Amino acid sequence: MQTTPLTDGFAIKIEGVDLSRPMDAATFEAIKSLWMEHGVAVFPDQVLDDDALVAFAAQFGPLFVHAQSSLLSSKRKEVMELSNLEGAERRTVHDLDWHTDQTYTPQPVFGTMLYGLVAPREGGETHFADLAGAYASLPDALRTRIDGVKAVYSAEPRPTVRETPLTDAERARILDCAHPIVRTHPYLKRKAVYLSPLHLKTIGDLSEEESVALINELTAHATQPAHLYRHKWTVGDVVMWDNAQIMHRRTPFSPDEPRHLKRTGFYFPDEHAVPF
Ligand SMILES: [Fe+2]
Repeated sequence: MQTTPLTDGFAIKIEGVDLSRPMDAATFEAIKSLWMEHGVAVFPDQVLDDDALVAFAAQFGPLFVHAQSSLLSSKRKEVMELSNLEGAERRTVHDLDWHTDQTYTPQPVFGTMLYGLVAPREGGETHFADLAGAYASLPDALRTRIDGVKAVYSAEPRPTVRETPLTDAERARILDCAHPIVRTHPYLKRKAVYLSPLHLKTIGDLSEEESVALINELTAHATQPAHLYRHKWTVGDVVMWDNAQIMHRRTPFSPDEPRHLKRTGFYFPDEHAVPF
């Protein structure tokens, strides 16, 4: 196994491991530690069918199923297809702004994993922002505004933010929920801003307008080049990130650029499941 840092502060490339094959406990633990320590891990040159992708993810924790049922594949609920190819069940054609996955659920997803099957020549990149690094470098004035404060996260905090709006049934089932906006990683004990500009509705007792201003300020700080890793997709890449310390976005791409990724993920075990 060879490792290469992808930025000065976080994200690591791990080569020389075949994720489609069973691995011994020591190898798995080494991968899990490297991934958590760096927040994002990139495994190039992988060849995985759905069973292998899910089997790898399942070693980290209970498998993730997206709260918004209308996004799920009819084939297998643990594997979402992000595809603009002809015949895709639900075509993914838009960019997607900064967010952390499923913050609007009571027990949000821990790790998300993407596997690249068709890579666009241009655009459609996945960008990552290090929210632990962002917290560590927060100016005092900003840190004191969020330390010890809870925020409300919503699947649709403001109209028009979602590519696939919730159905009425989903809206009735997926309720807003509150989490600390500074989150302590359950394994690393490292603090991170629990930032999800797409999902955050209000922070503490601020009005929605004041909250949006603070969200924008935190986002500008967290997305400075020092906290960023930009992933340009190559076929065979497996990229996984830790939602307790990383947020991400998808950049725009032309409809003429074919793009097909598969997504799966996993939860924390129950004793670590609720952000704190
Ligand atoms: Fe996401």
